[in-house]
Amino acid sequence: MRVMTQRRLGGPEVLEMVEARLPEPQEGEVLVRVHAVGVNPVDRLARTGESPLLGDPPFTVGRDLSGVVETCGGDVTGLRPGDEVFGMIRGGAYAEYVTVRVEHLAPKPATVDHVHAAAVPTAALTAWQALIDTGAVGPGRRVLVHAAAGGVGHIAVQIAKAEGAYVIGTARADKHRFLRDLGVDEPLDYTTTDFALTVRDIDVALDLIGGAYGPRTLATLRPGGLLASAVLSDPGVIAEDGEARGVRCARVAVQPSGATLRKVAALMAAGRIRPHVSAVLPLAEAGKAHEMSGTGRTQGKIVLTVTDHEG
Ligand SMILES: NC(=O)c1ccc[n+]([C@@H]2O[C@H](COP(=O)([O-])OP(=O)(O)OC[C@H]3O[C@@H](n4cnc5c(N)ncnc54)[C@H](OP(=O)(O)O)[C@@H]3O)[C@@H](O)[C@H]2O)c1
Repeated sequence: MRVMTQRRLGGPEVLEMVEARLPEPQEGEVLVRVHAVGVNPVDRLARTGESPLLGDPPFTVGRDLSGVVETCGGDVTGLRPGDEVFGMIRGGAYAEYVTVRVEHLAPKPATVDHVHAAAVPTAALTAWQALIDTGAVGPGRRVLVHAAAGGVGHIAVQIAKAEGAYVIGTARADKHRFLRDLGVDEPLDYTTTDFALTVRDIDVALDLIGGAYGPRTLATLRPGGLLASAVLSDPGVIAEDGEARGVRCARVAVQPSGATLRKVAALMAAGRIRPHVSAVLPLAEAGKAHEMSGTGRTQGKIVLTVTDHEG
């Protein structure tokens, strides 16, 4: 099989397509024939070594995949060869085949193609674990999503809306129509409006930017509100800052979960979560995809196709 690997840390040029042996699924794993892979900022950060997630090379990056179960290892129930699945793994998805623990996968909704399914797992799991599992977002809650037009943000908005929340989302003005289409009640142009001075009474804020955003977002929260930060490398706010203001602060490190992806899949099948894919490239052009992602301007997601026949 072909796999996009790297033998050293560095720029996009370190990515190289090589032939590798087909991996064998172990107990509790399935072998998935990958059709499409979602690109995440962490792929780039692992490639350069800015994120220690995968350790030292050689390794293969890639978290989000959609594909078809090829074979099953021992003790696998609930999935069979031929099943279409999507899910998040820790790394290694930039490949034609990958072995995945069965509990990290969910059936792909039949109405969603592999390209769009591959755009979802990390974004939806991060958003769900922050907004629902940690923030208990429900009807009438006021939610602030920073970087609402990006990979995580645009799914977070749709999850919050599906739960009945009122959503304020930050993005440049040229993306406000996109935000409205996603269901954002109040798009906010962060280049002209200071959210820290204008937004108030937020129940749950999701920080996908880091730096000064975390501390500045504390002022937007109502007493007892939650700041959930997904930017792990960032010193950000410490719990004591929040306590002093009577609010909670949580860091969200996304975890794989087929169980949560089943709930997400139900919302996708119902048309409540519609992943937006702004660019599709072949796996061979992963380096170019990383450069595009590195601009920090992505609307929705960038996806790599792994098989020739994917549409
Ligand atoms: N902790 C975890 O487990 C976890 C999981 C997933 C992601 N993350 C992290 O979360 C962050 C976001 O990930 P992502 O995949 O959503 O990234 P992304 O898709 O690359 O985000 C791009 C978006 O960010 C927006 N943006 C950039 N600067 C902004 C600003 N100052 N204010 C508001 N929006 C801004 C851009 O909109 P404009 O063009 O309008 O500026 C663009 O739409 C990354 O740092 C990623 O590493 C962490």
